Amino acid sequence: MNILGIGGYSHDSAAVLVCDGELVAGVAEERLTRVKHQGGVPRKAVRYCLDAAGLTPDDIGHIGLYMRPFLRIGRRLPYRMTQMVHSPFYSAGYMAYELAHNAQYIWGMRSLCGRNTKLHFMEHHPAHAASAFLVSPFDQAALLSVDYIGEWAVTWAGVGRGTRLEKLRAANYPNSLGVFYSAITDYLGFLRASDEYKVMGLAAYGDPEYYDEFCKIIRIRPDGWYDIDRSWLVCHYLPGSLKGYFSRKFLDRFGPPRQAGEPLEERHRNIAASAQRILEEAVLSVAAWLHTQTGLKRLCMAGGVALNCAMNGRLLRESPFEEVFVQPAAGDDGIAVGAALQLYHRLTGADRSFVMRDVRIGPAYTNAAIRAFLEGAKVRYETPDDLEGHAADLIAEGKIVGWFQDRLEFGPRALGARSILADPTRPDMKDLLNKYVKHREEFRPFAPSCLEERAHEYFTNCYYSPYMLFVYPVEPDKRDKVPAITHVDGTARVQTVSSDINPRYYRLIQAFEKRRGVPMVLNTSFNVMGEPIVNSPADAVRCFYSTGMDALVIGDYVVVKR
Ligand SMILES: [Fe+2]
Repeated sequence: MNILGIGGYSHDSAAVLVCDGELVAGVAEERLTRVKHQGGVPRKAVRYCLDAAGLTPDDIGHIGLYMRPFLRIGRRLPYRMTQMVHSPFYSAGYMAYELAHNAQYIWGMRSLCGRNTKLHFMEHHPAHAASAFLVSPFDQAALLSVDYIGEWAVTWAGVGRGTRLEKLRAANYPNSLGVFYSAITDYLGFLRASDEYKVMGLAAYGDPEYYDEFCKIIRIRPDGWYDIDRSWLVCHYLPGSLKGYFSRKFLDRFGPPRQAGEPLEERHRNIAASAQRILEEAVLSVAAWLHTQTGLKRLCMAGGVALNCAMNGRLLRESPFEEVFVQPAAGDDGIAVGAALQLYHRLTGADRSFVMRDVRIGPAYTNAAIRAFLEGAKVRYETPDDLEGHAADLIAEGKIVGWFQDRLEFGPRALGARSILADPTRPDMKDLLNKYVKHREEFRPFAPSCLEERAHEYFTNCYYSPYMLFVYPVEPDKRDKVPAITHVDGTARVQTVSSDINPRYYRLIQAFEKRRGVPMVLNTSFNVMGEPIVNSPADAVRCFYSTGMDALVIGDYVVVKR
């Protein structure tokens, strides 16, 4: 049985293919169109999935989609009607948009169908939760999905047993932690629904001095859930509010918002720290509630907020759950996985047999294809016998090295297939990477890829973290050894690398340790600011020559700038 899953449509569209219950291919549309957060019907992604398995649209029996349009309209329109008194023009415009958007969504998705294909509009949050639970190694788990908004729910808690998911409780719009964090992102002069991780990075530089006041904006209830006080955060357009987020009261208390490009002051850093802290406390509180309700030891999480790896690190350390699994593509792209697998189990009644151990399910390029491209572009390359050793030499010499291998990663992180690698022991490496390649804000940390069985020596209680979704404290006596990946608060967003999942990357890190004495390399995504991660050799070579990268290790070949 062949099932396509579609994640996203408003933004971050993606497609995955599930054949007989196994996830065989998947890619985000942005990687193929080269437009970051690309939304709409993911035609190129669907085409890739079909080609990867040698299928045509007629071979697809079912398509699982990320949102139920009539549930969405049925909840959003009546609410907007109630807002007509405050903002008639905005509300009327919103309702017209909502109807047109959903009509386009249904129509667009229908165009993906072959002769035998049935469309299934799946509910947003259960599909998020399924994207984590149904690929996790857990038989039973508590489930938590937290994002900006689904059809109407914003935070969804449930329980998964076998192949069944059951809702326990949900909070609805506008009571959204995702809206809150996006609003703070916007207030601090970053791009909302895109730059939230910048707020997380900035938070480590501040003191949560406004935390007590933020506790009034997000009130944690005695039962463990939370309420957003809309006298502070209006959550959507109302007259007199700023961009539909902040009330006059908020602006009077916390000052004017920062405009993009303005200097970051202590006030901004402290607001980021306070927002991060209240988000963590609210999610910890809901998680504690969920633990009491279910009595289970394991938690599965998804939804855009679950990409907050500082929050996830605290959940791992401080929540009552012993194990936490987060879907690596926790945003709307990853819903494709949940929608397809939920559908598969529902339609077949089959038990689970698939566990996600690798996110590299995207396009791959053979050595022959890579060589043909390099020769066609008149790029001079070498073919070293010991590729990993050669790459390790380059990194140990302080070079910035593009690393292009195997299939493209699914989800927002580069995990050793489309990565830029550097020496984590050099104190100046962060600045060099920013100066020559990434051009990003100096407050954002870089992350390490560490040999799995050695990770606990450097990072407290870190044994298995293959997807860079959790922040761990760097052992105090090791911080000076790896300054380029240690954040200002003494933590790191670790990726553990195992020899059976990614042997070539593992061998590279081993070879690097022989040269520089640490079992890890600095790993950042293979892209420049504002662009999606590279997919093809052409994307990689273009990125390589338009930045200050020193070398490119692509398939079996090495390209070095002279
Ligand atoms: Fe979502």
